[in-house]
Amino acid sequence: MSTTLIEQTVGFVKQSMSANDSGHNWFHIERVWKTARTIALSEQVNLLVVELAALLHDIADSKFHNGDETIGPRMANEWLLQQHVPADIREHVVNIVAHISFKGGNQADTFFSPELAVVRDADRLDAIGALGIARAFHYGGFKNREIYDPAIQPDLQMSREDYKKNTAPTINHFYEKLLLLKDRMHTETGKQMAIQRHLFMEQFLEQFYQEWEGKC
Ligand code: ADP
Ligand code: NI
Repeated sequence: MSTTLIEQTVGFVKQSMSANDSGHNWFHIERVWKTARTIALSEQVNLLVVELAALLHDIADSKFHNGDETIGPRMANEWLLQQHVPADIREHVVNIVAHISFKGGNQADTFFSPELAVVRDADRLDAIGALGIARAFHYGGFKNREIYDPAIQPDLQMSREDYKKNTAPTINHFYEKLLLLKDRMHTETGKQMAIQRHLFMEQFLEQFYQEWEGKC
C-alpha cells in the first residue's frame, strides 16, 4: 500500500505546489523528502510517517494564505482521509505538518515525536548551506528587500509577530535565523550534516564583507 500511497502523494503535492513561490516549490519538498530519508536511516522511526510528513509539510504556506496556519494541516488531513490512511498515521502526520515550522520567538512546542525531529531537521537543513543561501536571497528578491544595509542591525530579540512583519535586508536573516539552526538540530545525523552547511555560510559571510569593503 505505501509505495502507491507515496506515489499518489507525490502527484498530489506536485500539483498543489505548482503555483507556489520557488522557495517552497516541488524541488524544496523533494530535497526535504530525500534528506529526511537519509536521516531516518539512523533513527528509530516509522518511515511512512516520515515520508508522508516530508511530502506534505509545506502543502499550504500560511504566508500565502493571510497568515492562516491551519490550512496546511487541514489540507494534509483531507488528503490522508481521502486515501484511507489509518487514523493513527494520519493524525501523526497532521501533527507534524502543524508543528514543523520555525517562526521565531520562543513559543513552547506542544507536540514532539522522533518522526517530527527527522522531518524538521531535514527542513532546517534545506534553509542552510549553499541552498539556504540561494533560497534566502531568492526570498529577499521576491520580497523586494535589500541584500545588505550596514545601518540596519540584525534583531535577535524578535517576537513571533515581529519576525513575520520583518522587512530587513536579507543578510540580517542569516543572524536572525539561519546561523541559529545548527544548534537546533534534533538528530545526530542532522547535527552532523548541519556542521558543514553552517561552515559554508560563515565562509560566505566572511567573503561577502571583504568584498563589500573592497578588500579582496
Ligand atoms: P520554513 O519553511 O522553515 O517555515 P520559511 O517559510 O520561513 O521557512 O522560509 C522559506 C525560505 O525562505 C527559507 O529558505 C528561509 O530562509 C527563506 N526566508 C524566510 N524569511 C526570510 C527572510 N526574511 N529573508 C530571507 N530569506 C527568508
Ligand atoms: Ni519546508
